[in-house]
Amino acid sequence: MPPYLSALAAHLVCHTAVVVDHQFVEPSLAELYDVFHPWERRGDFGFYLPLVMSAKAVLDVGCGTGELLRRARDAGHTGRLCGLDPAGAMLGQARMRSDIEWTLGDLSTVAWDQEFDLIVMTGHAFQVFLEDDEVRSSLSKIRSVLTEDGHFGFETRNPSVRAWTSWTPDNAVEVQTSAGFVVRMAHEVEAPLDGQVVSFTTTFTSPGWDRPQVSRSTLRFLDAASLASFLSDTGLAIEEQFGDWDRHPLTDTSPEIITIVRRSRGAEILIVLSGTATCLVRGVEEARFGPGNFFGEVATLDGGPRTATVVASTDMEVLVLSGFEFEMSSPEVAHRMLGDGSPTPAGERQSSGVNWPTRLQSARSGRSRPRMSITT
Ligand SMILES: C[S@@+](CC[C@H](N)C(=O)[O-])C[C@H]1O[C@@H](n2cnc3c(N)ncnc32)[C@H](O)[C@@H]1O
Repeated sequence: MPPYLSALAAHLVCHTAVVVDHQFVEPSLAELYDVFHPWERRGDFGFYLPLVMSAKAVLDVGCGTGELLRRARDAGHTGRLCGLDPAGAMLGQARMRSDIEWTLGDLSTVAWDQEFDLIVMTGHAFQVFLEDDEVRSSLSKIRSVLTEDGHFGFETRNPSVRAWTSWTPDNAVEVQTSAGFVVRMAHEVEAPLDGQVVSFTTTFTSPGWDRPQVSRSTLRFLDAASLASFLSDTGLAIEEQFGDWDRHPLTDTSPEIITIVRRSRGAEILIVLSGTATCLVRGVEEARFGPGNFFGEVATLDGGPRTATVVASTDMEVLVLSGFEFEMSSPEVAHRMLGDGSPTPAGERQSSGVNWPTRLQSARSGRSRPRMSITT
């Protein structure tokens, strides 16, 4: 392979392959996951199952062995149930059921668009997102995979409760496998809270094995305020939040931060690629938009309500960007639009409709629609 191609291949691998803990990629350990975490002892599934049952199309991100979706099918769910996980061995367990869609991968490797009215991440899978960029890009992807009125439900352990202090060998758990062996699982923290992350080992031992199996993990503990800021940055609005599986309100001593979010209204910027549109404010024409113009940026950037209605005058092709994608692609333009952060006087919250940088004008959105009418 020519050197430039191997460099490109290495680059692609770095950007698509997620490193997953040994305990999820080793088949003999994946087989034991549901034995160590049985349905009866999981308060979270009692919370999520009714949500799954009342949704038509459900995506479980980091579905692991797929127990939640399997239970939903058994309980009579007739719609679309899809599990996504980057660990082949966990998905191998899930795939024992063929009446559910299982996808090997993570949020960066899938191309769904507004197809699920419920997305869940259970078993604290959300805590695997360690870097700010990873949290933002995952939430942004979740937003784009949700239908317009869809919901995303997930939990993260409350950092103020310091759950990792009980992850010690004294609290090891033992189970008996179907083959009759006893297997012991013990956690030990390697690097206690450093900023917001904790690294620990999980060691599995059994008299039936030659040697122990050790799995290393790192999890991020986001507090409620940081989480809220990531959510609003990525166009997601908190609808409900609880501190435990019995739906008690979130407090400093709650073990969990359980959050249900939906897409925020008015969190998209539209760039005109072709065609024309008219901008109406209280029914009066204020401006016309053509190729290179954009609109929707005011409410998206300042979080306020929409201020005008844009109606297509011809068939149009538009590029749709979330506020997060918009700021990432051109932060200097985003900040100039908001007057570098200085407050905008009331009544001046109107789209400038100025030309978009030429490098973005050649991009094409997969979501073009003829004759669109968009409230902006
Ligand atoms: C603790 S298990 C939870 C499994 C399942 N959700 C449950 O509640 O039983 C965490 C799962 O997250 C998966 N995972 C790890 N990194 C991930 C990523 N970047 N995106 C999605 N899932 C990931 C692992 O493979 C594993 O199956």
